[in-house]
Amino acid sequence: MQAGGSGCYDILCLGFVQVKTHSYLGMILSPVSRIGVFRKMVVVATIKQDKVTGHWWLCIYSELECFGYFPKELFSHLSSGASIVRYGGETYTPSGMVSPPMGSGRLPQEKFINSGFMERVEIINSEYNQIDINPRTMKINKNGNLSCYDLLYRGFEGGSARHAFLYGGPGGRSC
Ligand SMILES: *[C@@H]1O[C@H](CO)[C@@H](O)[C@H](O)[C@H]1NC(C)=O
Repeated sequence: MQAGGSGCYDILCLGFVQVKTHSYLGMILSPVSRIGVFRKMVVVATIKQDKVTGHWWLCIYSELECFGYFPKELFSHLSSGASIVRYGGETYTPSGMVSPPMGSGRLPQEKFINSGFMERVEIINSEYNQIDINPRTMKINKNGNLSCYDLLYRGFEGGSARHAFLYGGPGGRSC
């Protein structure tokens, strides 16, 4: 989603309407997963459009913890659903600077034990049902230097992960 005229990822500029105080965009999550430790910390996050107001709510963990929204007026489109949904990571670095790590800082080749991942990847369809993504409609998009960041998507992983992918990397110079 591109917030018209602002493009913020957090609450440092106007746009996002903060409703609850316990969670916010740009907050530091704790505790987090550790390299080499099998038990992973996960965040359950949902972005969904309110049927009545058309605003795009950001929720973590459950329906009850929608902590704010992107007003529909921020967007020139997205007034009635979205035609494309993107999942993954993104970094920004001014030119000449070292690019930061993404995900766990390890490449996807380290698999679920050490790499950053998204699991149970779902969409909310036009009937407002939350369903698995359809792998046939997924397009892999990697850009940049693959020693810095990479993506590994194999479709259905089974178990509770269902549709899942691995992503991220150490960043570095010449990314
Ligand atoms: C890709 O990034 C790596 C690690 O930062 C660097 O060593 C390599 O030169 C880069 N490759 C290109 C083509 O820029």
